[in-house]
Amino acid sequence: MPGDRRVRVAVVISGRGSNMAALIGAARDPACPYVVALVVSDLPDAQGLATAAAADVRTRIVARRKDRAAFEGELDSVLRSHDIELVALAGFMRVLTPDFVRRWEGRMLNIHPSLLPKYKGLDTHARVIAAGDTEAGCSVHVVTAELDDGPVLAQARVAVLPGDTAEALAERVRVEEHRLYPAALAAYARTLR
Ligand code: GRF
Repeated sequence: MPGDRRVRVAVVISGRGSNMAALIGAARDPACPYVVALVVSDLPDAQGLATAAAADVRTRIVARRKDRAAFEGELDSVLRSHDIELVALAGFMRVLTPDFVRRWEGRMLNIHPSLLPKYKGLDTHARVIAAGDTEAGCSVHVVTAELDDGPVLAQARVAVLPGDTAEALAERVRVEEHRLYPAALAAYARTLR
């Protein structure tokens, strides 16, 4: 039935893939409006690749290289050859060029471990603690050409506790990431079908 079909998602990772696993897990519910049709990693030894394969999700490696145009050209053709409609970046550690972002405009989301617009870039938790903030969190946003800058779709907050380390805070934020990303991706996918 039109309106009931599942949007084909590719999750793009570079590492552990715990958010990817949460996205795959949520899609096991037949009512989920998206299906994870593909997982792509730019690193061949990304832990998430084994997790995806164990969950019977197709995986592809698009190897990181100096020639960004070649890398992004291959990534784009892999996504298109799998009829991907929506891309979910999840711990993908490369900055994409404006040209690639334009090709997937409105069709690419990212999860960032801060309450955007605060703390774009890396080492967010250490910076939250150094600044003496009392709350931290994570954001799901639409990817635009500026790093960590696109429209925020959803956020979750956690308290910063006295004596928190960056690792402890990251761990608590990650629990929220695993709830937030599947929900935000599902809501976004519903708008596309
Ligand atoms: C997460 O903290 C995510 O917010 C950030 O990179 C990390 C990826 O972790 N973009 P994982 O690979 O999903 O476990």
